[in-house]
Amino acid sequence: MDEFVRKLPKAELHLHIEGTLEPQMMFDLAERNGYELPFPDLNSVKEAYEFTDLQSFLDIYYQGAAVLQSAQDFYELTVAYFDRVAQDGVRHAEVFFDPQTHTERNIGFEVFMEGFRAGMEHAKVEHGITSSLILCFLRHLPGEAALETMRAAENHLDGVVAVGLDSSEVGFPPAPFLPAYELAYELGLKGVAHAGEEGPPSYIWSALDDLGVERIDHGVRCLEDEELVDRLVRERVPLTVCPSSNVALRVVDRFEDHPFPQMMEAGLVVSANSDDPAYFGGYVGDNYAALGGHLDFTHEQLATVAANSIESSFLSRDQKDRHLSEISALTGRSATRN
Ligand code: HPA
Ligand code: ZN
Repeated sequence: MDEFVRKLPKAELHLHIEGTLEPQMMFDLAERNGYELPFPDLNSVKEAYEFTDLQSFLDIYYQGAAVLQSAQDFYELTVAYFDRVAQDGVRHAEVFFDPQTHTERNIGFEVFMEGFRAGMEHAKVEHGITSSLILCFLRHLPGEAALETMRAAENHLDGVVAVGLDSSEVGFPPAPFLPAYELAYELGLKGVAHAGEEGPPSYIWSALDDLGVERIDHGVRCLEDEELVDRLVRERVPLTVCPSSNVALRVVDRFEDHPFPQMMEAGLVVSANSDDPAYFGGYVGDNYAALGGHLDFTHEQLATVAANSIESSFLSRDQKDRHLSEISALTGRSATRN
């Protein structure tokens, strides 16, 4: 990877911690926990990573997550992610986790939160990386289950900055999750939601108007709706785009076809993120590198993407300004924001 790309200070805002489970760790934890994986060996895992759409990925992703059982497992997963992206210039991460994937297996909030928090402390102490968590509701489960999850989370919100919405998108619009979001807002959290990855632009409208979210995850299908693009630009609603994920899950055919440049051109506040790097073959730095390699982004354009990532985060104005001046120092000019 180009030294500039690696050094560019950036925030990662669209990263599922369960999606950082590398095949080797999946096997090691399965063995430690006496859990039988549906894959005979490492090679067959990698062969299974040929996805045709979001669902084909999710089926495997939930199977993999089942090896995570103790606080130590969640800690090691989190540490491995931060140790990896410390090499990618990540200064701050807002990390998704899927509590229902674990509570459904009778693993409680106290277990995974302990592991996440210890891993985040490691990131701060060892790498100077700040982080917070985003609690995601699984949208293939009912809105009532999300509300129950939010109630169960109430006493475990240390380090959690927002709630989000993920899993299968088509056929699962945002509106039924309003009660869970309302409780989250009462508890002082912010809201984000996956919308417009495979789902239609109407899901993005609904995430904004029904759920009142401040940031949209993916959002690439907004380009099909001019009025929506106007609104996202006018209100500076950040979109956390994941280009390599979109190629892996066939949202676009080839990296060269990704609409990232058109999104920048339209004035949207887009950042580049990895989504589920262990499954899609690239961490956040690789996504920046691919924008350079496949879409000819210049260093200046990549610096704008990095500045957008900082600006799109839930950091304080002071913290954002500190990271933005670091980007300016690297590029030798003031960082332009999109
Ligand atoms: N989309 C929806 N749900 C997910 C994703 C994604 O890209 N990754 C993990 N859960
Ligand atoms: Zn995602």
